[in-house]
Amino acid sequence: MARYGHSRGAYIHYLEMDMIRKQPLLVLAPMVLAAGLSAPVQSAEKLTYYCSAQEDWCQLMATGFEEATGIKVSMTRKSSGETLAQIKAEAANPKGDIWWGGTGDPHLQAAEEGLGEEYLSPLRAEQNDWAIKQAESAGNQTIGIYSGALGYGYNEDVLKANNLPVPECWKDLTKPEYKGHVQMANPNSSGTAYTTLATIVQLFGEDEGFDFMKALHKNINQYTKSGSAPIKAAARGENTIGIVFMHDAVKQAASGFPIKVVAPCEGTGYEIGGMTIIKGGRNPESARKFYDWALSADVQSRSLEVKAFQVMSNKSAQSSPMAPDLASIKLIDYDFGKYGSSAERKRLLKKWDDEVSVLPQ
Ligand code: F6P
Repeated sequence: MARYGHSRGAYIHYLEMDMIRKQPLLVLAPMVLAAGLSAPVQSAEKLTYYCSAQEDWCQLMATGFEEATGIKVSMTRKSSGETLAQIKAEAANPKGDIWWGGTGDPHLQAAEEGLGEEYLSPLRAEQNDWAIKQAESAGNQTIGIYSGALGYGYNEDVLKANNLPVPECWKDLTKPEYKGHVQMANPNSSGTAYTTLATIVQLFGEDEGFDFMKALHKNINQYTKSGSAPIKAAARGENTIGIVFMHDAVKQAASGFPIKVVAPCEGTGYEIGGMTIIKGGRNPESARKFYDWALSADVQSRSLEVKAFQVMSNKSAQSSPMAPDLASIKLIDYDFGKYGSSAERKRLLKKWDDEVSVLPQ
């Protein structure tokens, strides 16, 4: 406005131009109709959408939202830790509008670092308590959208072909016979792998937990970027055991691959997947529309179309009998406050980088 502050005429021109910029369809529609043409159906609204759930679900959400609203969506799929790093890098000039999916810890870290926009959706009352609790703990800069337990899956055929016993516990995975047979993601990029690290530390205590991670490292054939990649590799027969969220292993089994799912005997951690409106995004209206839409029962029920077997946040969303039953799994009382805090996440990741990833295998 300062640029136009000296002349009222120039300021009115600025307002008109601003209106044209913001509402091109409203301004152009009469001209289009007068010219005897039909009005364009495409909305001028846009949404830049960062997604950290499974690729096919991300796509379904993008096209579903476009179809429901006419808002043009541009989507990027990256793992949870990678998306957090991108949002942080863009903080001075945010390019994204909404971050949907991915483990809750990096969403909580984003909130702590003031990267999220506070929002109270009219659909909040329809959500499970655990989803709202996540929001309340982050000043409503994020909200839970789904939940799922960590575990691992193995390819039954590959296991048999290698004469390996069926693993049942976390500690089984450190036995020498599984050398080269276990895959997990890198906890820096992947929310799944960070949840694994934080779970092991909470289950066994920090010293014993890091000893476990070091012993496990000897058996790891590859640290992937994305959390679900290890079980996809197992489904293809290119890996034996993948440490993943159990719903990601169930998805492969439901798709016909010889994958068995394990809830480790010692107990396990879980995620509350998050959604965050990015502060300073260019399309805040579209972001809020997406947020409300994504919290609705109908939209969440569509997760079953892509075999996404997480437990949904909306109490009326449909679930599949194939989905892991969280009530029957020995879950730890995962401390989201601590492990979603910026300082703790950075500290654990640095310690893993310095003490585990550098060890010979
Ligand atoms: O594949 C789905 C999923 O496991 C989600 O449940 C989870 O939030 C996300 O992927 C984590 O992905 P990543 O480990 O790649 O950050």
